[in-house]
Amino acid sequence: MELKIAEDIYYVGSYSKDQNQFEGALPIPNGMNYNSYLIMDEKTCLVDTVDVHVKEQFIKNVTEVLNGKKLDYLIVQHLEPDHTSAILDLMKMFPLMEVKISPMGFKFLKQFFVIEDKDLSRFEMSSENETLTIGKHVLKFIGAPMVHWPEVMLSFDTYTGTLFSADGFGSFGAYVDKIFADLYDFNKDLLDENRRYYTNIVGKYGIQVNNLLNKVSSLNIKIISPLHGVIFRKDLLEIISKYKLWASYKEEKQGVLIVYSTVYGHTKFVASLIENKLKDASINVESICLNTNDVSYAISLSFVYKYIILCSTTFNMGLYTKMENYLYDFIEHQISNKKFYFVENGTWAPQAAGIMKQILMKTSGNQYSSNVLTIRSSFKCENSDSLNNLINEVKADVFLG
Ligand code: FEO
Repeated sequence: MELKIAEDIYYVGSYSKDQNQFEGALPIPNGMNYNSYLIMDEKTCLVDTVDVHVKEQFIKNVTEVLNGKKLDYLIVQHLEPDHTSAILDLMKMFPLMEVKISPMGFKFLKQFFVIEDKDLSRFEMSSENETLTIGKHVLKFIGAPMVHWPEVMLSFDTYTGTLFSADGFGSFGAYVDKIFADLYDFNKDLLDENRRYYTNIVGKYGIQVNNLLNKVSSLNIKIISPLHGVIFRKDLLEIISKYKLWASYKEEKQGVLIVYSTVYGHTKFVASLIENKLKDASINVESICLNTNDVSYAISLSFVYKYIILCSTTFNMGLYTKMENYLYDFIEHQISNKKFYFVENGTWAPQAAGIMKQILMKTSGNQYSSNVLTIRSSFKCENSDSLNNLINEVKADVFLG
């Protein structure tokens, strides 16, 4: 089935529903798209290949769209293996095909694969602002270092206004029958997995993402075609404005996020108590339990809210591992512009709050409340004053902004 996304441009990617995890760690309960695009002009040009899980279908798609024509060019935008499984296959299938690649991409390619000497001359190095003319379509190359790897190079088709955005604007989830974002309710159907993808994959590189957004702002972009997720052809500002927020670590929604881990349910009880009290004060609250949710969901929500209440048990004289895992993921992503509040539990030596703060101090640009709510085993009336102090500080922060 041929799927045309713009004049002469065909979707030749596919989706995988067999994988449980992306990059060996991130859950993908709704599968994963590996997108690729074939431009059929005077010359034929493929933009990236796919992950090994969908290679067979991808080769079929490319062959079907080419319909007996040869492939003249392959543009390699990103060397991560989820986009490179078929490079050598295509080189064998089309012995005259040239490969456009960035110099660093070529270095990485030789690290991942064995390139025969006879094929070395088929690789042509591409740099920022260089162009490839394949007929009426002219592809301009745009460096996008650290979005997501250092060698990333995007391509912009000046004829159709299509930005081939590599991992940028990608998403978790399998979407092929309905590949266009405008066939969905963006906020209801797409936003959460777009955000979870962005924050966990590229979220550390806000500065670089902002640089890229500035760089492409002068282009007349009509379509954004990422290597994962859906294709954007309408309301582009909707996703671009989200990227601007996420890349700047600014809050997406007003309100409070409660992140908690619990052993026997007593810490969960306190988290619920706080949630209810804040909701009673008409504050928007979202809670996530680290025991039952993968940390990637908590990282994603951490980009949404400015105010984050952490509730954790003390464990083995340290921090409960579920919370520890979240915090190390948080600091690894270098997320900033948050204010944290701490709730700790412990039966004989509660010390989770101090440890949580100590870990978070490895980031910069975050604030910390000094109102610590300490619970010994379970919430008691004697904890009410501390609870109210914490609630009052959160309320004042949210209402004063
Ligand atoms: Fe989809 Fe960074 O690879």
